[in-house]
Amino acid sequence: MPPKKKPVQGVARPPLPQPNQAHPCASLLPSALAPSTFTDRPHPPAYHCFVTSPYYPRTARTTDEPPKKRSKASSSAPKLPPALDTAIDAVVLQQKLLTWFDGVKDKRGMPWRKDIDPNTLSRKEKNRRGYEVWVSEIMLQQTTVAAVIPYWTKWMAEFPTVEALADGDLEAVNRLWKGLGYYSRAKRLLDGARTVMEKHGGNMPRTAEGLLDIDGIGPYSAGSVSSIAFAARSALVDGNVTRVLSRLVALHAPVAAKATTSFVWALADVLVPPQATEDEPSPLGSVGGLNKPGAWNQALMELGATVCTPKNPKCEECPLNEECLAFAEARFVAHRPRSNDARAASNPEPDIEDLCTLCSTLPYETTAEARNHNVEVYPMAKEKTKKREEDTAVCVLEWVRKGVVNPTDEERQVLLVKRPEKGLLAGLFEFPAIDLAPEDSPLKASARTLRLDKLVRSLIDTSNCLLRSPEDASAGALVSRTSLPTVTQVYSHITRTYLAERVVLSSSSLPPLRPASKQAPADSTAVVQSRAGAAKWIPASQVGSANVGGAVGKIWNERNSLVIGGGGGGGGSKTVNTNGKRSGNKGKNGSTAAAPEKGQASLAGFFLKKGPSEPRPPPPPSSSSFVKHESPAPGDVTAEDDDIVIVETTAITGSVTEARVRTALKSSPVKVYKKRRIASDSEDE
Ligand code: ADE
Ligand code: SF4
Repeated sequence: MPPKKKPVQGVARPPLPQPNQAHPCASLLPSALAPSTFTDRPHPPAYHCFVTSPYYPRTARTTDEPPKKRSKASSSAPKLPPALDTAIDAVVLQQKLLTWFDGVKDKRGMPWRKDIDPNTLSRKEKNRRGYEVWVSEIMLQQTTVAAVIPYWTKWMAEFPTVEALADGDLEAVNRLWKGLGYYSRAKRLLDGARTVMEKHGGNMPRTAEGLLDIDGIGPYSAGSVSSIAFAARSALVDGNVTRVLSRLVALHAPVAAKATTSFVWALADVLVPPQATEDEPSPLGSVGGLNKPGAWNQALMELGATVCTPKNPKCEECPLNEECLAFAEARFVAHRPRSNDARAASNPEPDIEDLCTLCSTLPYETTAEARNHNVEVYPMAKEKTKKREEDTAVCVLEWVRKGVVNPTDEERQVLLVKRPEKGLLAGLFEFPAIDLAPEDSPLKASARTLRLDKLVRSLIDTSNCLLRSPEDASAGALVSRTSLPTVTQVYSHITRTYLAERVVLSSSSLPPLRPASKQAPADSTAVVQSRAGAAKWIPASQVGSANVGGAVGKIWNERNSLVIGGGGGGGGSKTVNTNGKRSGNKGKNGSTAAAPEKGQASLAGFFLKKGPSEPRPPPPPSSSSFVKHESPAPGDVTAEDDDIVIVETTAITGSVTEARVRTALKSSPVKVYKKRRIASDSEDE
């Protein structure tokens, strides 16, 4: 069963204008849209191809004259169905859309959008033009034009040419990409630049086919770069173009099906105007500027982004509204007298062999629903695939120098681990983490803690500080252990839930990192990403600006909310508004821990009032010997509402009461890992 898109009901819309009787499909509308036939929608295939062009497949042509030019891409594409005798000339669409585009193309201030005839450029300038369009198009695949502009500008300043990018490293690339998501695209851009240097002598291929040879360039990017930068007559299809074209020809077909994508690509292909040459001046004259194919493709995308939007398209203002079949249908249905329904339904049905084989039925179950027929039903709604859900256990490990009340930047450090150079979030840093196998999820908090401890021990030498088990007590370091609110990150195929805990260690010197181990960790099936040799300590104030993905940023904000309040700075800064509410400088470099953390003062107060003024004798080394809340831990946190920190004295060395924490799960397991879903971005996995 195809997915049903909820019919648009009861939305107050302005009345639609009268149907356009001159539309090439006007005579087909009564049978295609009779309420009783909405469910089978018998229409001839030509219904979708009321447009013709010099590039239209031979079978559709009324004369035997061969098309003047065919792009290679389209020669292997399936033929479009024959056009109607009264078909609209593609040049009419081009004239209208490009005239509109000429008036709006500068409105959104895209610095990469330039009206240039590439034939006037030198080899070097062409390469630079190809490269800047390439970067913009890859960035635009994941976010809006407004969001891309600052990223693109910074990128071009840092890597102005393909050569410069090819010489760059993944870390610099990831830094510039930070916040855009889909980090694999940044990596493929880097790989692609290296391919251009190594396989193409530094010259970007000028055709769609040539560009397809480059890592990270698929049919969309090949079409956009070759047309926009080099004026090649190549088509492109993205979500916007699919929507505009589906509406233009009223195509209601499963969008991911091969037959549908071939059809949409073929239609996009026949519509692209050629670049004017000296021998063949363009019938468009000056309309569409100096690069007709590039302008056309951008105009289609611009129309999809600003006029032919998924919801509430502005059909009344659309330059193609007289040609658009979806709009013709909507007007026809809105103005059809009800008494005509029966007559329309009794129209003889076309021969079954002549019917369109692409379309699925429209998503209407009743005639009342069908009466609200609207352009928004095109393109057909995608079937929602449910993303896999997986969990990751995370340890935000902080070290604070022993005995320091207000640690400086160097005295409060956080452990980060570099991810492998391949795969998800390649080369980015993250907190030590364990992806839990589906059969392990949700793993009990106590088991997660054990696994994380083991992981941390594989990354750092904890012999001078205490992590968890009683035998460490003699080392006499201070530990606090707090679960953080759950963080969720949506990737392309997975929704990953991060179950993080914050662990604070204290010792006189930073625990040394372990070197890379040749041996796979004992638990190698569970430890997916954090490897010895890939870890580094960084000052807490720098976590917010480190090369990390979205999930790490969110976890760090939760840590900051806990420690400083309100998702604040990285290093322990705290801002208190005059109204007493906490606020933080989200994820950016914080101060160097000059201010006490939330909880620290209150714990110190508690300690001053109630705590022992003299070091206490060490308790017996048994885990049953724990006593409660004793030590004002530098950089530690108090138990707040649903926090689960219990600080317990285990040993005393020097003047500082050493403590360790027993996670509350031992004593009150219900408080651990309360789920709180927070806003999620998309990244690919
Ligand atoms: N979306 C992606 N690329 C675009 C472009 N060049 N113009 C308008 N919208 C776009
Ligand atoms: Fe899109 Fe409406 Fe224009 Fe058709 S008339 S192309 S549906 S905006």
